[in-house]
Amino acid sequence: MSHKFNSKNIKKLEYLERFIEEPFDNILKLLPINKLSSIVELGCGSGFYTFPLAHYSAGNAKVYALDVEAKMLDFLRANMRGGEIVKPLHPADVKKIIPILIKENEFQVPDGNIDLFFCAKVFHEIEGFPKFFGELSRIMMKDGLVFVLDWKKEPTERGPPIEHRIDVQVAIEKFKRYKFQIENYGEIFTYYYYIIARMFATNNI
Ligand SMILES: C[S@@+](CC[C@H](N)C(=O)[O-])C[C@H]1O[C@@H](n2cnc3c(N)ncnc32)[C@H](O)[C@@H]1O
Repeated sequence: MSHKFNSKNIKKLEYLERFIEEPFDNILKLLPINKLSSIVELGCGSGFYTFPLAHYSAGNAKVYALDVEAKMLDFLRANMRGGEIVKPLHPADVKKIIPILIKENEFQVPDGNIDLFFCAKVFHEIEGFPKFFGELSRIMMKDGLVFVLDWKKEPTERGPPIEHRIDVQVAIEKFKRYKFQIENYGEIFTYYYYIIARMFATNNI
């Protein structure tokens, strides 16, 4: 069983220092977000990454904000109306965001249309990777990008139990097994790694 984030711990996702600890500028250097227009954010939570994704993506972009937990989407919707800490960077960003309550590994977006699949601190919470990769392959556009940010599997002063984390090399092997091409990976924001993978063939499962 994976370890799911408890919505009662929302303050672990919403605190001012997080903007200094996890500056979105670093992600802008890794991904061509301004050229992307059909984005899925899996496990959006209350929107810490949803809002900058909406702000920096192409003007006509849609950001499908998916979460398995209704309460997290309630937090997101409240923040779309203007949160104290996590909030839109510009009012126009809100129009791009489409919150969707999903069941695990049922993404509820059309086939072959997504040019960026983004998930931050979620990969280690996923249950059932064959179904996850089946859905991922279904929704991705050919050459679409996948960005995973997750906890390093090593002792850190905070974060989920180490036994629930997924080592970066294990995560990379999963992507390769399901025929994704690894474009880049490395360390980011002290406690985390990132992986950028590319979908280079549709229906490859
Ligand atoms: C640690 S929180 C991170 C939230 C957000 N990405 C952030 O960085 O602030 C993990 C989120 O992923 C959601 N989640 C866990 N497993 C999921 C899954 N398989 N599909 C979609 N959402 C999931 C949880 O409900 C929670 O909102």
